[in-house]
Amino acid sequence: MQACDKINEMISASAINARLDELAIEIDAEFAGQNVIIICVLRGAMMFMSDMVRRLNFSMEIDFLQLKSYYSTSSSGEIELIKDVGDIAGKHVLVFEDIVDTGHTLQFILQHLAAKNPARLKTCALLNNPARRQIADVAPDYIGFVIPNKFVVGYGLDYNEKYRNLSYIATINGGK
Ligand code: IMP
Ligand code: MG
Repeated sequence: MQACDKINEMISASAINARLDELAIEIDAEFAGQNVIIICVLRGAMMFMSDMVRRLNFSMEIDFLQLKSYYSTSSSGEIELIKDVGDIAGKHVLVFEDIVDTGHTLQFILQHLAAKNPARLKTCALLNNPARRQIADVAPDYIGFVIPNKFVVGYGLDYNEKYRNLSYIATINGGK
């Protein structure tokens, strides 16, 4: 932790774990009996995805999509594809993302993956910050927590690549 950064816990590790248990029950019910391609959006969703897949009971394969969202504490809407997923045509797909903020990234993900013709395409975001939404018709199918309009770190989310390792979600320097 840098001496100058002020970290304040917003969602505890135990609250995250309890919510993940609930989400897994909902998602298990939707995908029961299917073979599912899990797509983790790097890097922010890595911890969320790895904790969720251990709670899910259907057959799955895990793939990774990496984007660069030109973001420090606000999004420019410009997105670059760094690593693509394999073939998902005709497959049941569930995407794990860290946070939906302006919605530009989720819109890009949905358009990019829909063009590959999956049989089903669902999205699950750990966090939703609806106050900052710029793309009105974009919303994740499953949401862990709706948060107030603050910049957050921890549990996979970063500030200039730091703080991803925190086991809880926190505001940094008072937020946005
Ligand atoms: P959007 O395109 O504005 O919805 O932003 C989505 C991406 O920006 C996320 O996948 C995160 O990588 C990053 N991001 C947005 N808000 C935050 C935040 O509060 N903390 C850390 N990263 C964020
Ligand atoms: Mg991200």
